[in-house]
Amino acid sequence: MISQKLSKATKNMKSSLIRELVASTRNIPDLISFAGGFPSPKTFPRETLSKLYADVVLNEGEQILQYGASEGDPLLKEELLKWEGYDLSPEQILITAGATNAIFYMTSALLDPGDVIICEAPSFLGSLVAFDALGAELCGIPLDKEGISLTVLQDKVHELQSAGKKVKFIYTIPDFHNPAGITMAYQRRKDLIEYALAMNIPILEDNPYSRLRYSGEAIPTLFRIAFEEYNNTEIVTEVVSFSKILGPGLRLAFVKGSKTLIERMCSWQQKVNISPDNISQRVVAHFLAEGYMEPHLQFIQDFYRPYLDKMLTAMSEHLPAYIQYSKPQGGIFTWLWLPQDMSADLLFDTAKAHKVTFIPGSKFYPAGQEQNNCLRLNFSYSSLTQIDKGMQNLGKIMTDFYT
Ligand SMILES: Cc1ncc(COP(=O)(O)O)c(C=O)c1O
Repeated sequence: MISQKLSKATKNMKSSLIRELVASTRNIPDLISFAGGFPSPKTFPRETLSKLYADVVLNEGEQILQYGASEGDPLLKEELLKWEGYDLSPEQILITAGATNAIFYMTSALLDPGDVIICEAPSFLGSLVAFDALGAELCGIPLDKEGISLTVLQDKVHELQSAGKKVKFIYTIPDFHNPAGITMAYQRRKDLIEYALAMNIPILEDNPYSRLRYSGEAIPTLFRIAFEEYNNTEIVTEVVSFSKILGPGLRLAFVKGSKTLIERMCSWQQKVNISPDNISQRVVAHFLAEGYMEPHLQFIQDFYRPYLDKMLTAMSEHLPAYIQYSKPQGGIFTWLWLPQDMSADLLFDTAKAHKVTFIPGSKFYPAGQEQNNCLRLNFSYSSLTQIDKGMQNLGKIMTDFYT
């Protein structure tokens, strides 16, 4: 039997509990789901992309339907550097099939089994399970309103290093955090960079959401702060995904960082998939070159703004006063804190029976470090009416559940 032949890593691999949870609610009629993390299909620029795909295949097909470079399409790299306004060499960028691949390559390049990755607690489950599958020990650091708690981080790193552990990198989602909806304050970003520089601990900045800002002032990314204020392109590796901007089906992201690390990550890409999809890369290069990106981003921001506003208003109107929640200015998630003795895992079953779902917060923590009195709500996939109705129902369910 093949199951007896599986590697230890495969046997121990965790499945995505979130996929299972979402699947368990799929066939419930009239369910209002705040569980998934999908962007609205109404934000996909279908007409422009279909025209660009046709043009690329027709006019550049001889080259583009060939095998592509493992480093990524040179034209796309050029356009990305112009778009973001960086004076970097193309060797400092790698194009990957989604952020998931970039995160996998960086971890594969740096980690030996048993090494420690510091993550925020809560954090994005997709990354946590990948880190775990590659043999990482995960150390979760709590978030406050301004981002990762630096005092806890410093104490933990000290503790780990004193125990002889190797801390390989810090994984953070500074903008419109998934799942916590928090954006790291500017000063916290600087303090984190200074600490990382002093300790020589690389930072992996996962950035799928910074362009989904619906109000307030943008805060520079960690990579930009390190580049502009510390003249450093080594300490932060930033991964930017197109999944929430253009559509996750494209499977496209790019990563910027140290030339040496990018080269090693590229070496992993060669082994795993040779290159990302060549056609999608060239299509996105044209999307940028022909000036579609800025109006499209404006469109997405205008599209999502009422959904976030509705979610925040509905939460303040319908949720019991003892529920605390993040008030993001963008992204696609909000995060709720329940009273200490109120379990979101138990609430999930009751809510599901009343046709409302969310993801219990415990799913977003490294194993053994779970908190149960928290949950994530997505606001990019339901209609405005469903958001209002869903929050009204959830408020009632919470009140009945916690008396
Ligand atoms: C924080 C974070 N990182 C990475 C990803 C995965 O991105 P991609 O679709 O580019 O692999 C997601 C998707 O939800 C995410 O929220």
